[in-house]
Amino acid sequence: MIYARIVGTGSHLPGDPVSNSDLASRGIETSDEWIADRTGIRFRHFAAKGIGSSDLALEASRQAIASAGIDSATVDLIIVATSTPDVIFPSTAALLQDKLGIRNGGAAFDVQAVCTGFVYALATAEKFIRSGSHRCALVVGAEVFSRILDWKDRGTCVLFGDGAGAVILAASDLSGGVLSSALHADGSHNNILSVPGQVSSGRVTGSPFLQMDGQAVFKFAVRVLGDVAVEAAELAGIGIADIDWVIPHQANIRILQATARRVGIPMEKVIVTVDKHGNTSAASVPLALDLAARDGRIRPGHKVLLEGVGGGFTWGAVLVEF
Ligand code: UT7
Repeated sequence: MIYARIVGTGSHLPGDPVSNSDLASRGIETSDEWIADRTGIRFRHFAAKGIGSSDLALEASRQAIASAGIDSATVDLIIVATSTPDVIFPSTAALLQDKLGIRNGGAAFDVQAVCTGFVYALATAEKFIRSGSHRCALVVGAEVFSRILDWKDRGTCVLFGDGAGAVILAASDLSGGVLSSALHADGSHNNILSVPGQVSSGRVTGSPFLQMDGQAVFKFAVRVLGDVAVEAAELAGIGIADIDWVIPHQANIRILQATARRVGIPMEKVIVTVDKHGNTSAASVPLALDLAARDGRIRPGHKVLLEGVGGGFTWGAVLVEF
C-alpha cells in the first residue's frame, strides 16, 4: 500500500506588511475599523513590480524542499495552483520547474480553482502518488492578486494580498498522510466571483479586475465549507471531534467563525492567518499550514483538515494525518 504523506512545508510573503491605515493613506476611502470589523484583516503583503507568482512559488518551494530534507531532483511532479499565472502559457509549474533547476523530465502543470486551488492541487497530487506513477510531488499555491484588483473598488481591493505556500507530498510505506479528499464545483454560480476579462485577437475585452457579490459569496462559503468538512471526516471514518486542526481558506474571520460554529469545531482548533495575510486565494491554505507546522502547533499524528472555497464556484477539503 502506498500512502501520500506531507513531509515538508514552506511559504513566502513578499515585502513588508501593508496595514489597513496604509491603504487609507494611499487614497482608498476606507478605514482600519471598517476592514477589521467586517473581515478581521489588518495586514496583507504585495509583490513588487516584476515579481510574479513563479517567483513567490520559488521561495516557498525552496523552503518546502529544505524542510523535507530532499534533493530537488527527486521531485517528479509539480502542481501549482494559481489564478494569477505569470503568463497565459507556459504554466507557472513549468516556469517553477525551470527556476528550481529540475531537469528530470517530471510532470508539471497548473490547477485553476481560484481560492480552492491548493486543495484541488493537493487532492490531485495524492491520486498520482497513490497510483504509483509518481513518488515525490511539489504542490504549491501562489498568487499575485494585487495585479487583478480594481483600486477604485473599495469593496474588494482591501481584501486580498499576495503570497505563496508549498508542500512536498511523498510516497511512503507508513500509514497516514492524506486520509480523504472531496472536491466539488457548481458552475452555475460563476458570476458571483470572477475576473471576466479575455485576451482575444491582441486585445483585452471585458474587465481585467476581480468582481464579487460579497454577500452571496459569504453565504455560499459558510454553507459549503461546513458541509465539506463533515464529508471529509465521514470519508475518513472519523468524527469531527477527532480533527486536531482546521485550516480553512482565509477569506474573512466571520466566515471562519460561522463555519466553525455550524460544524461544532471550537475556534481554538482553527488556524487563523487572515489578520496578517489578508485573502491570498490559492496561497492562503498552504501559507497557514506552513505557519502552524513551523510554530509547533501541528505535530506528528495530528489530523488536519484543509478546506477551500472560491470562484467557479468551487469548494473542497483534504484531511491529512501528519
Ligand atoms: O475567497 C472568497 C473571497 N470573498 C470573500 O471573502 C467575500 C465574503 N464577503 C465579505 O467578506 C463581505 O461581504 C464584505 C467584507 C466584502 C463586505 O461586507 P458587507 O457587510 O457585505 O458590506 P456591503 O458590501 O453590504 O457594504 C456595506 C457598506 C456600503 O456602504 P453603504 O452603501 O451602506 O453606505 C459599502 O459602500 O460598506 C461600504 N464599504 C466600505 N466602507 C469602508 C464597502 N467596502 C468598504 C471599505 N471601507 N473597504
